[in-house]
Amino acid sequence: MFCKATLVSVVLALLAIANPIAQNSGVSVALGKRSTLTRPDGTFDHEKAVLHNVKTQKYYQRNIRNVLANKGSLPEGWEAREFRSVPAGLQKRATGSVSLTDEDDDAEWLGGISIGTPSQPFIVQFDTGSSDLWIPSSSCSSSICSGKHKYKASDSVTTSKKGGNFSLVYGDESSVSGPIYTDVVTVAGLTATGQHFSPATTLSSEFADDPTDGVLGLAYLAASRLNATPFFNTLISQGRVSACEFGFKLASKGSELYLGGTDTSLYTGSIEYHSINQSMGFWQTTGAKSVVGSTSPNTNLETIIDSGTTIMYGPPSAIKTFYAAVSGSEVVNATEGFYSYPCNSPPAVGFSWGNKTWQISSDNFNLGQVNNGSSQCVGALAGQDLGLGSNVWLLGDSFMKNVYTAFSFDKNAVGFASLA
Ligand SMILES: *[C@@H]1O[C@H](CO)[C@@H](O)[C@H](O)[C@H]1NC(C)=O
Ligand SMILES: *[C@@H]1O[C@H](CO)[C@@H](O)[C@H](O)[C@H]1NC(C)=O
Ligand SMILES: *[C@@H]1O[C@H](CO)[C@@H](O)[C@H](O)[C@H]1NC(C)=O
Ligand SMILES: *[C@@H]1O[C@H](CO)[C@@H](O)[C@H](O)[C@H]1NC(C)=O
Ligand SMILES: *[C@@H]1O[C@H](CO)[C@@H](O)[C@H](O)[C@H]1NC(C)=O
Repeated sequence: MFCKATLVSVVLALLAIANPIAQNSGVSVALGKRSTLTRPDGTFDHEKAVLHNVKTQKYYQRNIRNVLANKGSLPEGWEAREFRSVPAGLQKRATGSVSLTDEDDDAEWLGGISIGTPSQPFIVQFDTGSSDLWIPSSSCSSSICSGKHKYKASDSVTTSKKGGNFSLVYGDESSVSGPIYTDVVTVAGLTATGQHFSPATTLSSEFADDPTDGVLGLAYLAASRLNATPFFNTLISQGRVSACEFGFKLASKGSELYLGGTDTSLYTGSIEYHSINQSMGFWQTTGAKSVVGSTSPNTNLETIIDSGTTIMYGPPSAIKTFYAAVSGSEVVNATEGFYSYPCNSPPAVGFSWGNKTWQISSDNFNLGQVNNGSSQCVGALAGQDLGLGSNVWLLGDSFMKNVYTAFSFDKNAVGFASLA
């Protein structure tokens, strides 16, 4: 894909935590530190972490189904599996409003967009792990949509209804569905016309307390359920951005998505780029190795860089190998793939794609003490079989918070740079 350097680059400050936000399109302001899977008293929130595992498995199983539908087959090792459901003991909590609000504080980097003419404002999660745009429709009359912004097609002079329906299924009890439309979509002043999206008429209950209205996916077409050009690629094809690249800084403060290049004020030195394996439509870099101190327990990894996932995951056996290299490590929950390490001597962990080792700070690696008073802390890298094959790892915020990340359609590469 060629990107003609033409127009502008824009900055979108991402909101780091959930709050009722009154705002319109464009730039929004970071609000502060978002929570983690750690309780206020510094202990590991085991239940919340299990719910996050279930959610991640569902999201990737949904992604795998999208790819399967678009391509007709999956590469070796990738599998459409049963969707995990919430373990029995946690059911109540999963549908309770209070804890879900907490849970969702974890998973999302929010920002404002607008759709239609005149513009209708929405708050979306910017997700590099999916490719579609959806927001609630004014036809969604359930209580789940009641606190959210809703798209009213008849109020927009630029709207156009398309054939077919959109449906994202996350297992039996959760889904998003609605018709398919095109309209103008604007993010921080950059406007894509004729952008496909779905105004969802049905949202399942797990979205009720989600602080966002919907999701704006930033991955490739192959992972799109709509099988339509994703938003940023529409900006590219319409010549709206000066570079076919966007950059993320995710942090407690000053989180930012930069569209049309990278924000050079946020990193130092040059960006180390690594080409991606495009077969699945994700930002999936190859040739990575894990680093623990001076050792590399896992090599030849494929790593999906995903702003929509809070922690990091690898296949269970690979994660066992990883923690075997961490002195003093212990299993916390074998089923859920959580391990601990001595809080007073955190391991020096990171990833390398063949050049610099990108270290994960001990703060970003620490999910909290196993229990109150425990000298062991839970690591932000867990073993889960997500159906992604034997060497694919998912690097979410626990990794992304340590680096400036560039996502380049020009180079079909992901780049990392040191934060300024
Ligand atoms: C690309 O990714 C797919 C899915 O993980 C894998 O099967 C394939 O071997 C990878 N190709 C390369 C060249 O790494
Ligand atoms: C789309 O969904 C609506 C409402 O459920 C239904 O009436 C319509 O037949 C569906 N259209 C297609 C093409 O599946
Ligand atoms: C290593 O990364 C630096 C930028 O951080 C780059 O200048 C250099 O060419 C890279 N070396 C290799 C071997 O990739
Ligand atoms: C591990 O997680 C499961 C849920 O998958 C839970 O039922 C179990 O109690 C947890 N085990 C421990 C030791 O906490
Ligand atoms: C944790 O332990 C300390 C003393 O070791 C105690 O004061 C505190 O109340 C405990 N917190 C919880 C949440 O149990």
